[in-house]
Amino acid sequence: MKNGLIVSKIKNGTVIDHIPAGRALAVLRVLGIRGQEGYRIALVMNVESSKMGRKDILKIEERAIEEREAELITLIAPEATINIVKDYEVVEKRKQKVPDKITGLLRCTNPSCITNNDPEAATKFKTLRKSPIELVCEYCETRITEQEVLRQILE
Ligand code: CTP
Ligand code: ZN
Repeated sequence: MKNGLIVSKIKNGTVIDHIPAGRALAVLRVLGIRGQEGYRIALVMNVESSKMGRKDILKIEERAIEEREAELITLIAPEATINIVKDYEVVEKRKQKVPDKITGLLRCTNPSCITNNDPEAATKFKTLRKSPIELVCEYCETRITEQEVLRQILE
């Protein structure tokens, strides 16, 4: 970072880097973190990035990111890098791929879709485009845009 670190390095935990500017709060939501859990977290928003112009960074101490969580993060931050930090060193750098199918998490926007009427039916979307994300419901073929994905995650 050109102007030096805004927040210090962490000892152990996860740094999610290269989040599109302004979306760090949505990433926290995907992780189910609302603040009451007690994790020590640094939220860095709208900082300069050579690759992205501006970006957000999320540092979460003593918290691992599960595979499923990493997949869901790609829906709103397809270029995100997940850095695992142990004893101040980055020991692993994960670049998650956007999954081909998304089950659960999102709702279909079509009120007559079976997933909105049968309580047993889980939503299932196929990925049409990865960045920005565009999904299609496997049951009724309704398309879901990135804007709708963000809206649902933040509501
Ligand atoms: N980081 C941290 N605490 C540490 C180590 C790293 O908060 N103990 C943060 C860095 O500030 C950076 C991110 O984790 O935001 C990745 O660190 P590093 O791999 O050292 O940075 P870069 O090489 O710039 O990463 P990339 O190549 O992915 O852009
Ligand atoms: Zn549907």
